Amino acid sequence: MGRCSRGCAPGLVTRQQVAVEAHQLGIEPGDTVMLHASVGSIGWIVGGPDQVLFGLRDVLGERGTLMMYVGWDGSPYDVTLGMHALPPQIEAAWPVFDPATSRAVREWGVLAEYIRTLPGAVRSAHPDSSFVAIGHGAEAMNSDHPLQYGMGTGSPLAKLCEAKGKVLLIGSPLSNVTLLHLAEHLADVPGKGVVRYWAPILESGTKTWVGIEEFDTTGCLPWRGATDMFEAILQEHIQGGRGTIGRIGAATSYLFDAADLVAFAVDWIEEKLRDPIDDDETVEVRQAESSDHRAVASLLQELEEEMTGTPFPESRASSWADELLESGNCRGFLAVTERDAVGMIVASILSPQRGGIDHAYIVPGHRRRGILRELEIEATTFLRERGCCDVELHVGAENEAAREAWRALGYAPTLESMERQL
Ligand SMILES: CC(C)(COP(=O)(O)OP(=O)(O)OC[C@H]1O[C@@H](n2cnc3c(N)ncnc32)[C@H](O)[C@@H]1OP(=O)(O)O)[C@@H](O)C(=O)NCCC(=O)NCCS
Repeated sequence: MGRCSRGCAPGLVTRQQVAVEAHQLGIEPGDTVMLHASVGSIGWIVGGPDQVLFGLRDVLGERGTLMMYVGWDGSPYDVTLGMHALPPQIEAAWPVFDPATSRAVREWGVLAEYIRTLPGAVRSAHPDSSFVAIGHGAEAMNSDHPLQYGMGTGSPLAKLCEAKGKVLLIGSPLSNVTLLHLAEHLADVPGKGVVRYWAPILESGTKTWVGIEEFDTTGCLPWRGATDMFEAILQEHIQGGRGTIGRIGAATSYLFDAADLVAFAVDWIEEKLRDPIDDDETVEVRQAESSDHRAVASLLQELEEEMTGTPFPESRASSWADELLESGNCRGFLAVTERDAVGMIVASILSPQRGGIDHAYIVPGHRRRGILRELEIEATTFLRERGCCDVELHVGAENEAAREAWRALGYAPTLESMERQL
């Protein structure tokens, strides 16, 4: 493939433009900002990726601080995960983590290594979860990074909140917001997964292996929602009017207040995951009765809100539930535990031989446990008894979880409907 020339670049973006647009988004001189960036989505950066960092530092000024999560590309995390003792060959051969020279994780974008190597950048001493900061508060932000539970109390993330810092995403997905690991740490919920691994650090100039413990950053909570948990939290935070959204170059960019986001996320996690998931809990699947009106309306409302990302009025959900429960042409089925209704599905007779399935919904904490499978069996049994030979349903092209689930249940696409914005 030929080298991309300026002529075909999606747009030239200068250091000055980054500064102006970051300021428009809400960054002020003197701010402390944690950055996540996908440089490629910004456009053609005149002078290379460093200019993004320089542009941000131009706005932040002398009293501002810019920070990124950089990690260590050579971390033995994956190799030593869960090991009680270190194999001697690893113990001897693995190079020590040196905050001054050990590389940033490549998969986290080029800027991690760029900021790490800027003159004056300060890196925290954690061998796996290190942060780099530059500017006025860099030293304070990254000193004394706790080795144990390095995303929790006393970590650079906690200090970002104490400093009334902000989180800036430039073209980065919402699922990347590292700060939410602090919320996972702080949330008072049962069943958080803990990982243990080993890392070689320098102690008085000598390589020393240390055992490290932390909440599993690949998902320490039993969240079973279809959307990534961090993304789900941030979507709701944004829907609640928090944070600002704009563009830096061509990149969709977000700015959040760190402490506000963590407080919101802790409440969110505690509300959604307060009750331990009991895998032995019995879930019964049965036909919905008129006495289930409230449960059906509430599940319909949750489904609509998850699908559209906007609030759905309770009154509309209630009259919808009335229609479904009273219609002779369709039948609703519920999945219920001893305490709650946790899922629903509606089967309808569309024509003498054809049935339809609609309103399939399982509450996030109960997904991936076969409940849809059981509801679908009830729904199709009803349709078969009514003489149907086929069943159809509609699923959004972007709803990957549902498409996978229906495929696993034997459904295959027929018509494809397409649209575009005018
Ligand atoms: C889609 C949804 C109903 C699935 O419910 P569920 O109870 O988690 O599904 P089940 O556990 O019964 O899974 C049924 C099959 O689908 C597969 N599946 C379910 N969710 C999946 C996912 N996110 N990715 C891949 N496969 C998935 C399961 O592995 C299972 O197959 P298997 O038995 O061969 O292992 C649920 O995610 C949901 O409520 N989503 C939001 C609402 C929605 O999208 N409704 C559908 C509109 S068309």
